[in-house]
Amino acid sequence: MSVTSDYRVLEGKRLLLVISGGIAAYKCLELIRRLKERGVRVRAVLTEGAQQFVTPLSVAALSEEKVYTDLFSLTDESEMGHIRLSREADLVVVAPASADILARMAAGMANDLATTALLATDKPVMVVPAMNVMMWTNPATQANVRTLEGRGIRRLGPAAGDMACGEVGSGRMVEPMEIVAGIAAFFAERSVPKPLAGRRAVVTSGPTHEPIDPVRYIANRSSGKQGHAVAAALAALGADVTLVSGPVTLADPPGVRVVRVETAAEMLAASQSALPADIAVCAAAVADWRVAAAAGDKVKKGPDGPPTLTLAENPDILATLSQAGPARPRLVVGFAAETRDVLAYAAAKLAKKGCDWIVANDVATGTGTFGGDDNQVHLLRQGAQPETPLIEIWPRLSKTEVAARLAQAIADTFLSTSNHSPEPV
Ligand code: CTP
Repeated sequence: MSVTSDYRVLEGKRLLLVISGGIAAYKCLELIRRLKERGVRVRAVLTEGAQQFVTPLSVAALSEEKVYTDLFSLTDESEMGHIRLSREADLVVVAPASADILARMAAGMANDLATTALLATDKPVMVVPAMNVMMWTNPATQANVRTLEGRGIRRLGPAAGDMACGEVGSGRMVEPMEIVAGIAAFFAERSVPKPLAGRRAVVTSGPTHEPIDPVRYIANRSSGKQGHAVAAALAALGADVTLVSGPVTLADPPGVRVVRVETAAEMLAASQSALPADIAVCAAAVADWRVAAAAGDKVKKGPDGPPTLTLAENPDILATLSQAGPARPRLVVGFAAETRDVLAYAAAKLAKKGCDWIVANDVATGTGTFGGDDNQVHLLRQGAQPETPLIEIWPRLSKTEVAARLAQAIADTFLSTSNHSPEPV
């Protein structure tokens, strides 16, 4: 996150400050002062651990607000329930964020007021870790931080240097003024106009499950990572995104409406319900076939040997959304998962499906694309001649970077065509 010294964006903002246990908690007193000086209204929640380092009285005196400590306080709950407390803020900041609170947040625990408010909030959350270097570098903490970041939680620090415990290394909480600058940068970033603001997008992601009987299904190895990343990247540029997701184990991307489906037929229906849209990105690995007549009861082994499955072709969502007509999104983007002759097959798919762009990715065994974090893609755009698409070769990138680059290409196309041609291709 970039640091800014323009603090005007802070004026009038409401912050819920969760102070967890750690020697760095004392620095929160200065943090509260600096935020108050810049017009921020600060409400604080102290964990039990935090109260070993700072008193609720000093936090209350500096914030000029009631301080909250107890999940089961009758008076607090009648004045300001924990749900309201978690919602009446523009940003929730956990500073210092101890290893313990990061672990509890990652696990979705709600065993005190702080974690309950964090679980109940619908607002952005920023954590400012502070702990001993070994605790910070411990794989458990690192895994928790990755989990939290995967859910869209922002992080400031920790910094490296001398620590209160006498050890040297990474784990020190960043200084109060750096936290103020980080919070200002967060609000500044949000106030920048977004190139896809006002645009609606529908994104498909993940595999589909096609039932054989109530307990078995046909599926594929798609993790949904690429499609989910595209949805998040479009939302980050301001688009109003509906993500139609097959069964995946990923967290919902922040700021995205998620519709969960199982089969290709459900995915098509949900995608069509999300129209009208300006942009459609079909990143799902839709099963090409379903069992023509799925059994209502579990298929049992019998004397006749294995059952024969008769397959029927599934609807092609990308081709359907690409059909010309008033409901057609202005830009329809497909993915082409290929194991060989990637560009040739992708060019053929672009022509056959009628979409505007194809992101061709190499999913050959050994590339690690399915389920992995990286992707090797090429972007093919419909050219003047259908048989000669415009091809951009992209370097091997993480799926998040592929998504950001694709979202930016989409935004650029809309920006360059919004005043000219109605077609963004
Ligand atoms: N797709 C879709 N609906 C389907 C099949 C595919 O929307 N029933 C979309 C995918 O989301 C992707 C694109 O079509 O954007 C290409 O998918 P891919 O699996 O590579 O191609 P197929 O159409 O299945 O063609 P083939 O099996 O011949 O490679």
